[in-house]
Amino acid sequence: MITIPQEGSRIGIAVDEFDALSVPESDIAQLKQLVYSHRIVVLRNQHLSPGDFVEFGRRLGEVETYYQPMYHHPEHREIFVSSNVKEDGAQVGVPQTGKFWHHDYSFMPRPFGLTLIYPQVIPQKNRGTFFIDMARAHADLPEALKAELGGVRGVNSVRRYFKVRPTDVYRPITEILAEIEEVTPEVAHPAVFTHPVTGESVLYISEAVTYRLEDAEGNPVREKLLDELFEACGQADTTFEHDNIHLQTFDRGDMLIWDNRALVHRALHTVNPEPAVSFRVTVHDEHEFYPGISL
Ligand SMILES: [Fe+2]
Repeated sequence: MITIPQEGSRIGIAVDEFDALSVPESDIAQLKQLVYSHRIVVLRNQHLSPGDFVEFGRRLGEVETYYQPMYHHPEHREIFVSSNVKEDGAQVGVPQTGKFWHHDYSFMPRPFGLTLIYPQVIPQKNRGTFFIDMARAHADLPEALKAELGGVRGVNSVRRYFKVRPTDVYRPITEILAEIEEVTPEVAHPAVFTHPVTGESVLYISEAVTYRLEDAEGNPVREKLLDELFEACGQADTTFEHDNIHLQTFDRGDMLIWDNRALVHRALHTVNPEPAVSFRVTVHDEHEFYPGISL
């Protein structure tokens, strides 16, 4: 494998001459190390079938299948499909996913460490995903804010961005809301944890999913603290010009692998979207998501 730095960017590295179908174990370990140290790896010139993509995910760890079937690839349920392109008149997967700052699965008790995205149909313009490195964001916080975060937990829920399913039509909204709370009750994770590989302190909050902060006993913390953190890290910046915000673009054949502990991300969709299809596989690596996670 050949690594190519991305000019003018603090995060992300491209990799050429990486054959995902026959990669030796030593290269898998090296690849993961690149993901942890650069946050995003772009594997170029990949030609994988959906089944190959899942198999490659299995080389990296334990593949997590999304909890909601409407996102599943029809033949490979391990693949989460984001698509606005109908196939034979039918919707496959879900359109316009992830247009808000989030980590994948932070609303679940056991999030995963690695996200793999393999775009299939690529828009001509406005392509890419926004990222913020939340380890760097933590390092850059004013000391007074850092000091307030000892023992603090972020309470997370998917409720604000749950996508209503075709099968929900004609159901009372209260019934749908009750089901969301039953299937995905809110979950608390440390607002700051130590990255198990890099040893950095990571600020683990997202504008879409983290509702409130509480102290170790479950008591509310200072009311403005969460908003101040979103402001400081860049998630509150609606112009996307904050110094922490990185737009990662991609071309046909690229596969993106990113560190889902250190990064928050946000899809770039426009009001009148071009056709776009993307496959996603998500993976628990061999490390605890954060030290002492209760699973
Ligand atoms: Fe996502």
